[in-house]
Amino acid sequence: MSAYQTKILGTGHYVPPRIMTNDEVSKLVDTSHQWIVERTGIHERRIADPKAGDIPSGMAMKAAQKAFEAAGIQPNDVELILFSTTFPDMFFPNTATQLQLKLGITNGCGCLDINAACTGWVYGFTLADGLIRSGMYKTIMVVGAEMTSGFNNWNDRNTCILFGDGCGVTILGRAPAGEASGVIAHVLGADATKGEHLMLRGGGAAVPITAENVGTDVQCVVMDGKEVFKSAVKTMAAHCEQMLSEAHMTMEQVDWFIPHQANLRIIEAVANRFNFPLDKAVVNVERFANTSSATVPIAMDEAIRDGRIKRGQTLMLAAFGAGLTSGGVLLKY
Ligand code: UT7
Repeated sequence: MSAYQTKILGTGHYVPPRIMTNDEVSKLVDTSHQWIVERTGIHERRIADPKAGDIPSGMAMKAAQKAFEAAGIQPNDVELILFSTTFPDMFFPNTATQLQLKLGITNGCGCLDINAACTGWVYGFTLADGLIRSGMYKTIMVVGAEMTSGFNNWNDRNTCILFGDGCGVTILGRAPAGEASGVIAHVLGADATKGEHLMLRGGGAAVPITAENVGTDVQCVVMDGKEVFKSAVKTMAAHCEQMLSEAHMTMEQVDWFIPHQANLRIIEAVANRFNFPLDKAVVNVERFANTSSATVPIAMDEAIRDGRIKRGQTLMLAAFGAGLTSGGVLLKY
């Protein structure tokens, strides 16, 4: 039994104003609105404008301001920033430090980037929970901020239809004594043998950008969609099962399922395995597409703000992504 329990103190999200419809994507590659909707559930996505400051740290600043307001805390109350992104502002300094700067945090709080692709925010949430439960930290900000348009290949119809930009921020703190909030179970995983199914190869030490390969698809995401799809359904269902079993609970006791928003068919397949009604799953993939590690915190914030998610309810969060990484959290909000 831990000394403390973790409470979600406040949440916020930001998506760039520019909407890109499926019809617009159809002008770039051989696809159609109908195909994209039938195979993915996506209708439109948001595209960040870096000139307007909407790089990962900039989007995170806007989402964080909403989360501070919701949590009723000041930026300088944050003791640690865990920042998940697959497309950082730059290699270093890390993007968490850029956010510290933009938020005007002057307390010297710790800043760490997490690279676990679409599962990154779940990894961050889990680390934050451990640090809060141990008593080491009282207030931690967990960010998922993604500019997928920075690595999307607008010539590849297998991938470019899927992704969008945006950010979700969650502020975690100690639950006051006597409150029911807390993490019930969690799981983190990765299967590196399947890593080749979803990659952005270029720009690092293994495949440096050279005069020969600059501007080619080594700087873009490559994916075997079918393999990722199969693995996503299998691992998310297995993680949910494991968490429920550890907690001696059933899916009927879960109020809201908040899965990674990659494809409506993946969400439906996981929900079907548990006979879980789809109207108890939080889904926004039709409006924002796959914003990588930002999908779960954005979806959770939307459902908190519109009153679907209420204090005391049980939430099941699950994600998967490049790595192939995966993870889940079962919690009392
Ligand atoms: O955060 C993790 C990120 N990644 C994912 O979550 C990806 C998971 N996978 C998926 O979402 C799906 O596999 C896709 C949406 C990517 C693809 O759907 P699918 O039902 O697996 O289609 P497919 O790859 O089997 O392709 C079926 C057909 C192919 O044509 P043929 O070979 O049957 O003639 C493709 O060439 O559809 C074709 N196709 C398209 N047609 C129109 C593939 N992409 C498109 C497209 N528009 N955008």
